[in-house]
Amino acid sequence: EIGDAESGEKIFRKCASCHQVGKGAEHRIGPHLNGIFGRKAGTVDGYERYSEGLVRAGNDGLVWSLEKLHAYLENPKYLVSGTRMNFAGLKDQQDRADVLAYLRRFSDN
Ligand code: HEM
Repeated sequence: EIGDAESGEKIFRKCASCHQVGKGAEHRIGPHLNGIFGRKAGTVDGYERYSEGLVRAGNDGLVWSLEKLHAYLENPKYLVSGTRMNFAGLKDQQDRADVLAYLRRFSDN
């Protein structure tokens, strides 16, 4: 699943109403997305507004692999019951691959 990070940067505009990523990124409506790959769900430092559903999913073992991020972005409430991320989802597989390739630039994992 190879994504195009350049295309993903444009697709990220759909996320940017709620999320920041990159140098100096801060929490907004949603947590910043630096270092998201490989992290346990619902555990970004300093973000205080996680839903119970997302915290529970993390405690039940949800770790943000490429595969899990695909599933969450396709249909957030299907992967994580009760998530507060009010986003219809990216239904196009290539769009998801592209935005995830972009986000991966800001992750060590
Ligand atoms: C959570 C990605 C769009 C609001 C998350 C998480 C990821 C993510 C990976 C989990 C964070 C974690 O576990 O620490 C994205 C991407 C988007 C997008 C890539 C665009 C394709 C949006 C939009 C909104 C939003 C448009 C606001 C309408 C939130 C909120 C959370 C969240 C509030 C916390 C959810 C909870 O606690 O249940 N997002 N998101 N996101 N996102 Fe998004």
